[in-house]
Amino acid sequence: PKTVSGNTSLVTQNTSEALLSASKVNVLGYGEGILGPTIRVKKGDNVNINLLNKLSDHSNIHWHGLKIPADMDGHPDQMVMSNESFNYKFSVNQQAGLNWYHPHVHKSTAVQVTQGLAGLFIVESDEEKSLALPSGEFEVPLIIQDKRIASDGTIKYSPTMMEIMSGYLGENILVNGTHKPFLDVSTRFYRFRILNGSSARIYNLSLSNSAEFYVIGSDGGILPQPEKVKNVILGSGERLDILVDFSTMKVGEVVSLKSETFFTMGNAQGNQPFDILAFNIKRQENNTFKLPSTLIPVPKLPSTSIKRVFTLKMDMMSSDGMHKINGKVFKSGRIDETVTLGSTEIWEFDNSTGDEAHPMHIHGVMFQVVARMGGRNVILPHEKGWKDTVLVAPGEKVQVAMTFEISGKFVFHCHNLEHEDDGMMLNFEVK
Ligand code: C2O
Ligand code: CU
Ligand code: CU
Repeated sequence: PKTVSGNTSLVTQNTSEALLSASKVNVLGYGEGILGPTIRVKKGDNVNINLLNKLSDHSNIHWHGLKIPADMDGHPDQMVMSNESFNYKFSVNQQAGLNWYHPHVHKSTAVQVTQGLAGLFIVESDEEKSLALPSGEFEVPLIIQDKRIASDGTIKYSPTMMEIMSGYLGENILVNGTHKPFLDVSTRFYRFRILNGSSARIYNLSLSNSAEFYVIGSDGGILPQPEKVKNVILGSGERLDILVDFSTMKVGEVVSLKSETFFTMGNAQGNQPFDILAFNIKRQENNTFKLPSTLIPVPKLPSTSIKRVFTLKMDMMSSDGMHKINGKVFKSGRIDETVTLGSTEIWEFDNSTGDEAHPMHIHGVMFQVVARMGGRNVILPHEKGWKDTVLVAPGEKVQVAMTFEISGKFVFHCHNLEHEDDGMMLNFEVK
């Protein structure tokens, strides 16, 4: 068993200029420092992790993307009190992919995640291995987050009313907890496994030299085939698996992963480009990797006539929370939807009258995006495989299909953590 403990330890971020007058930043951590260990398991493995909560507040762990029994899922009703522990035990029986873990405390998820509690959980499989994708030092996980750091060396989290509406945005962009990071690379293919672990920030990921790259996977694993793109808009909670071919670039060049401007998300986001991670092209290497033309097939789900519609709306006058799904805010203990075990359903997230983006996430399942109407109007390249979080832009209705294979009580919610904490979350029970 692995022991993961949360404590308020500190981490030195010896970063440059902009990042504050404080040289040390106080963070929450699983173990030591910001962000928890990257956990790697193989499909079929049994996992046994003990959470010892040394925070003064209650917490828990949700395993975002894992299809595991409801009592291990870290539902907001399953709290681990201060100085208590909980043993998470489950087996992993799903396709290879990049998942993550973080607390799921109603009204405090954002503050705990923003202050440092999050980590990656990678599932591997033989099927994925057989693709011989770049591995070892050429497979690089990247957690992208934005933070505000106060002069007293704390990660500041105190959203204003306006920020609860549009989302908290930090002016420091960190990758794997590092400010202004760089990576030395050689002229070959690299695999980057990206998590948008930000509270609310949406990134329009692209390369500074406008080179194309290949999306090979998203939240729930590998796509049926590589998708060549120039940019991908990634909402909070979403993951992206990409291949970048540095053999088309020259030694001595610096190319950045950046966020390009975008104007489709309706709020203050996207009006400014910025760099995320600099790639220093350092070494010449003969590239031997060949991009496969097909990857891992994504099975078609059984067709279904069961459809539920969830209207996403803002209610400024509400005293119990402004962000609502079907007119409701989260209430512990109330079951909002009941689903039959084994059934396949289509859920439609309707943001057609909204003016904010909502990355909608469902626990306990992986879904497929089957339609987007209005707004961007298409199923995007990174949405062609299994997903658990889908970005619903203002003016859009997005339909997802899934089969409910695990019984019990789960939540679904907006993964803009300000919206989630504001109540944009409902319970559903599978039985
Ligand atoms: Cu990553 Cu319910 O959340
Ligand atoms: Cu989740
Ligand atoms: Cu939202």
